[in-house]
Amino acid sequence: MAYQQDLKPIFDADCTRCHSSSRPYGNYSMTTYAQVMRAVAAGNTNSVLIRFTQRGGSMYRYWSGNAQGKADLVRTWIVNNAAAQTR
Ligand code: HEC
Repeated sequence: MAYQQDLKPIFDADCTRCHSSSRPYGNYSMTTYAQVMRAVAAGNTNSVLIRFTQRGGSMYRYWSGNAQGKADLVRTWIVNNAAAQTR
């Protein structure tokens, strides 16, 4: 699993409408891998991006469709795939 193929499409669909302008909400832009990684510590379950996007986190409500599945995908990508950029 990797950012470019698996995560970027869902971030673009559900997150970048608030997290991509020159003045992004929360001062957090999600347009590029480098930007997304500002809230990620590879392998760390306590990464900000994990805490905000899991059930109970303040961004969980923004997942469209299978919210739990997308939350799981983010966690697996960071914890088990070391937040890889490409595969
Ligand atoms: C409707 C606008 C909106 C959408 C859509 C949105 N966010 Fe946010 N996001 C915010 C706001 C506002 C904040 C800052 C307030 C807060 O921390 O709750 C924020 C903060 C964050 C933070 C914390 C950044 C930091 O370093 O403190 C992360 C991570 C985050 N969002 C991820 C996401 C993800 C992933 C998605 C897509 C599932 C998403 N957001 C969708 C508005 C949005």
